[in-house]
Amino acid sequence: MPLHARIQRAVRQLIVDGALGPGNRLPASRALATSLGVSRDTIEASYAQLHAEGFIERRVGSGSFVAQITEFTPSRRAQRNTPSPGQPPNLSKRGDAMLGGGGVREHLSPRPFAHGVPDTRAFPLPLWERLERQVRKELGTQTLLHGDPQGAEPLRRAIADYVNVERGARATADRVLVLTSSQQALWLCANILLDPGDRIFIEDPAYYGARKAFTAAGLECVHIRVDRQGIVADEIIAAPQKAKAVFLTPSHQFPTGATLALDRRLALIEWAARHRTWIIEDDYDSEFHYAGKPTACVQGLDANDRTVYIGTFTKSLFPGLRIGYAVLPPQLVKPMTVARTLLDGHTAPMAQLTLARFIEGGHFGAHIRTMRGVYAGRLEKLALLVRKHLPDVEPRVPAGGLQMPCVLNGDLSERAAVDAARRVGIELLGLSALHHAGNGEAGFLMGFAAYTPLEIESAVRKLAKTLQSVR
Ligand SMILES: Cc1ncc(COP(=O)(O)O)c(C=O)c1O
Repeated sequence: MPLHARIQRAVRQLIVDGALGPGNRLPASRALATSLGVSRDTIEASYAQLHAEGFIERRVGSGSFVAQITEFTPSRRAQRNTPSPGQPPNLSKRGDAMLGGGGVREHLSPRPFAHGVPDTRAFPLPLWERLERQVRKELGTQTLLHGDPQGAEPLRRAIADYVNVERGARATADRVLVLTSSQQALWLCANILLDPGDRIFIEDPAYYGARKAFTAAGLECVHIRVDRQGIVADEIIAAPQKAKAVFLTPSHQFPTGATLALDRRLALIEWAARHRTWIIEDDYDSEFHYAGKPTACVQGLDANDRTVYIGTFTKSLFPGLRIGYAVLPPQLVKPMTVARTLLDGHTAPMAQLTLARFIEGGHFGAHIRTMRGVYAGRLEKLALLVRKHLPDVEPRVPAGGLQMPCVLNGDLSERAAVDAARRVGIELLGLSALHHAGNGEAGFLMGFAAYTPLEIESAVRKLAKTLQSVR
């Protein structure tokens, strides 16, 4: 910032803070210039700007004075009750709920075994940059304009083709809404499909991002047990309370890794149609399935159009991309698109168009195939090392995903394990906190995808040593 602007800001701050009161004389420009060791022109420029903004008056022959601005007198400041820095802000109930929930902060520089992170070091960045340049060259400044709130058409088409072929969905480009993340899709569902006070069935344990989005929207979460076949659908169907929606992670339940059994999927689809309830399907990492093909998504089985399918490129490509999407029942396309215009207008066009080319050119499929092999190897390695070095930790090897749940069998408490690990720079996500009553099986999630076999090995050894010391 130029010197004159810095001086002008400093003087303005003194006036705003009341340190220089109305009528106070400012030093003569020559004297201030000498004392600050700057030119008189610099001071003149600062004073001229303060004068133009109305903070000072300049009287020919007598000097410069702080203007009579009653807003800045001490009594007015007291009346305004300006909060002191330590005072809690006066928020709405909704704002308080959001702040109290703590939001969803992900790791900025992931270290073993932070969960849910893909290996960004293996991403084909030069290829991505080449596609980006191609888009820029062909479309020029058009990419700098606002984009369609529903998403760029080529990307919507590419997403629809992908989910139809790979996930067995029933999608068309005009039913796809491109968003910034699946978190944004969850927020939209919570606020557009339900009212504060409405009930939603959610898995127990559950993905914290979903639970926080629903709680912040004022919804009442009704927690439904998850077993080895996913959410216990019978408990939903037999529940005495009615709910407006159910939240599911059917391909790979977060955090247990269970796949929702086909009979339960069909039962929930039938139940949703009967009660005119929404199914919110979060299909966040089904690209990475290591044993055979993943089961088709619920949305593809739902002929009644009660399912909102949510996908994201956070895991399949990289989290910094910030592109997620929803495949919507036709009647929800307009309301959801209009609602998103109030959040962020649209997703950045450059990233969308580059991604569309990345998918159309077959690079997305190729990247997934490569990473699936890499991650399968890392999962196997992690399970092996855990069995070998961590005697009272039982790995529950999942069929897919980027993290492995582990259960504690011995005396070691989950809290002690998680805290001890953090002290030596290792991240474990405790499982019991993901249960609404905090009373689930003690254990933790270990992310493996983002770390090389060597990093995994060295972190497991370090973990073994530190857990030994707290046993
Ligand atoms: C179940 C689940 N859904 C969604 C997400 C996040 O996806 P996004 O970055 O698109 O919000 C995660 C990330 O950890 C997740 O575990």
